[in-house]
Amino acid sequence: MNPAESAAPAPYHQLGGYQAVWRIVEAFYRRVETDDILRPLYPENLEPGKQKLAWFFEQWLGGPTSYSDRYGHPRLRRRHFPFVIDERAAGRWLRLMREAWTEAGVPRELQDPIFERLAVLARHMINAHDDVPREPLGDVYLD
Ligand code: HEM
Repeated sequence: MNPAESAAPAPYHQLGGYQAVWRIVEAFYRRVETDDILRPLYPENLEPGKQKLAWFFEQWLGGPTSYSDRYGHPRLRRRHFPFVIDERAAGRWLRLMREAWTEAGVPRELQDPIFERLAVLARHMINAHDDVPREPLGDVYLD
């Protein structure tokens, strides 16, 4: 059956809605702040990206379409082109994200299927070996 038709609540609701997403994102960014591989990739001001990640996770987990309502299609791989992401960076991103979800109190059995999808996405974001445009995409605000 199409998951959209099943009676099971979306992961977004199972884990506790926006408050839970925000706890996860804060725990993740707290780790990024002192990370030797990831910190240099992120801009000096971490706040705007933090909010964007929270909006993205909301919709990616089956909650409100907070990100796309503001920015349109995420085009995630393209948006990451300005940041040279290799296997180590992707691996570190995933590890810090796992720690963040655990710190936020999300039970392991809820995390596991989500991290199967996140691992695929993180691998997809690797672009260090590709000849891609490195200039930022820029935001197109819909509102
Ligand atoms: C694989 C390793 C990854 C690295 C090193 C990485 C790094 C970054 C960096 C440096 C930014 C810019 C932050 C800013 O402008 O403040 C960013 C933005 C973002 N990342 Fe990642 N990222 C990775 C994977 C992912 C994955 C797997 C997802 C989705 C599940 C994701 C979702 C986002 C979103 C939604 C944004 C904001 C995009 C926007 O500007 O609208 N990232 N990431």
